[in-house]
Amino acid sequence: MRVPVVVKVGLFALAVMGIYTYYANSIPQIQSALPEEISLEAETVTPEQLVRVGEELFKGKGTCEVCHRIGQVGARAPDLAGIGGRAGTRRPGVSPTAYLVESLLQPGAYVVEGFPNIMPRVDRPPIGLNRSELWAVVAFLESLGGEVRARLDDIPKTAGVPAGEAPVAELKLPGDPEAGKAIFMGKGGCVACHKAGPLGASPVGPDLSEIAKIQTPEYIMAKILNPAAMGTVAGYPAGVMPPTLGQTLTAKEYVDLVSFLLTLKGGA
Ligand code: HEC
Ligand code: HEC
Repeated sequence: MRVPVVVKVGLFALAVMGIYTYYANSIPQIQSALPEEISLEAETVTPEQLVRVGEELFKGKGTCEVCHRIGQVGARAPDLAGIGGRAGTRRPGVSPTAYLVESLLQPGAYVVEGFPNIMPRVDRPPIGLNRSELWAVVAFLESLGGEVRARLDDIPKTAGVPAGEAPVAELKLPGDPEAGKAIFMGKGGCVACHKAGPLGASPVGPDLSEIAKIQTPEYIMAKILNPAAMGTVAGYPAGVMPPTLGQTLTAKEYVDLVSFLLTLKGGA
C-alpha cells in the first residue's frame, strides 16, 4: 500500500513541530539578546516611571504595537484604548490587574469576541518579557482608562526569564532559508498575497515582514498546513489562504519555507 504524499508531509511536519516544541519548552531561556535589560525589582519606582517603561516595552521589545493599536482599529488585534477600565468587566470575580496578567501569560483563557486565539504568551520566545517587564506592561495597560495598582507580586514568580540571565543562542530549524525564499516567491505563491520585507507588496494577506518577532514557530508551521484551524487573522477574509499547501509542497520545501519565515524580524 502506498502512503499518500499528504500523509507523509503531514506526519513529517508534525514530527518537526513536536521536536521544536519539545526543545522550546525544555529550554525556556531561549530568546534573542536583550540590549537594554530593564530590572526594576531592586529600585523604588514610582507608578509614573513604571507606566513610562511599560509604554516603551509596548512599542519596542514587547512588539505589542505590531498587532495592537491604542485608539485605532484595523490591526491584527483589539484596540486597547480604555483596557484599564474594561479589564475589570471581562471575567466576573477577576480583578483588573489579575485579568491583565492573565491576558499576557495565558491569552487563550479569555478570547475577545471577533478575534482568533492567536496571541502568543509574551513571557516566552519570541517576545520573552521578564517578570519586571511584565509588571511595567500591566501598569501601562492599567493606565489606559483605569487605576495603576499592579505590584510586582501580582506577576507569578514562575513568569518570564529571570533578569540578567544569559541569552542562549537561537534554535534553528534544519531548513535552508534561501531555498525557502525561492519557495515564497515561486512555487508556494505566497508573494501573490503577502509582503515580506522588501519582497512583494500585496495587501491581500497580512504583512509578514515581522512575523518571526510576533509569532511562535509552532503557529507559523501550523498556519501553513491548516490555515483555518488557526482562526482567521482579524481584518482579513477567511478561506483565502490556500488550505492545500501541505499537499503541494514537499517536506523539504516546507521546512525551507518555515526557515525563511523565521528570518522575518523587521528592520532592513
Ligand atoms: C500576534 C499578535 C499579538 C501580539 C504580538 C500581542 N497581542 Fe494581545 N491580543 C492579540 C489578539 C488577537 C487578541 C484577542 C484574542 C484574545 O483575547 O486572546 C489579544 C488580546 C489582548 C488583550 C485582551 C484585550 C481585551 O480587550 O480583553 C490584552 C490586554 C493584550 N492582548 C495585550 C497585549 C500586550 C500588552 C502585548 C505585548 C506585550 C500583546 N498583547 C501582544 C494579538 C496579539
Ligand atoms: C491567495 C492569497 C494567499 C496566499 C497565496 C497565501 N496566503 Fe497566507 N494568508 C492569506 C490571508 C488572507 C491571510 C489572513 C487570513 C487568515 O488568517 O486566514 C493569511 C495568513 C497567513 C499567515 C498568518 C499571518 C499572521 O499575521 O498571523 C501566515 C503565516 C501566512 N499566511 C503564510 C503564508 C505562506 C507561507 C504562504 C505561501 C506558502 C501563504 N501564506 C500563501 C492569504 C494568502
